[in-house]
Amino acid sequence: MDFHRHLLFPSQVVSLPLDNFYLVQTGINAYAYTLKENDPQGQHFTNRGGWHSTFEHTEDFVPYEKYVQGAIQKAVGLYGFNSETQIELANMWFIINSPGTFNVSHLHPSSNLSGVLYCKVPRNSGNIVFENDRVFSEANLLTNLLPEMQAETKMTHSFSITPKSGMILLFPSHLRHEVQENTSDEDRVVLSFNLNVR
Ligand SMILES: [Fe+2]
Repeated sequence: MDFHRHLLFPSQVVSLPLDNFYLVQTGINAYAYTLKENDPQGQHFTNRGGWHSTFEHTEDFVPYEKYVQGAIQKAVGLYGFNSETQIELANMWFIINSPGTFNVSHLHPSSNLSGVLYCKVPRNSGNIVFENDRVFSEANLLTNLLPEMQAETKMTHSFSITPKSGMILLFPSHLRHEVQENTSDEDRVVLSFNLNVR
């Protein structure tokens, strides 16, 4: 008898290193810091101690807009949508997490896909940790699995990804996540965004 293990209904999280990110890295980071200088208080959402921009962008972002849109398109291209699918950028914001800051667990309501373009990621500046949305209903099934089974199937309570500068990450907006504390001695800079999929 053939044995099959059907891993049903997975959540698709795509990460892609952008090989040409070095071309825009300095400029994008400088832009993020300009926004922060002009609005030092920033916005308060999931950021604890870190700085969160508004969803508005100034003319200084224009030179990077095309690059960012292209990067998002590349990541979306890996998702496997059919050719009729329409993807629309809903909003986009910067987060600067200085040492000791983090983002509490949250999800992104009102959009379908969310993502992060990692602009500056020092070592140990905080993983993004996704939470299994069946962590309650399947608690006993998950807890009792062998470690090797958990590793193979990703049937775990959570899954942690260590980002790198120049990486773009895409995930379903309903997937709860947190950003761990930045335990490095440098800032961590990201550009986050939401997409609508129709
Ligand atoms: Fe988020």
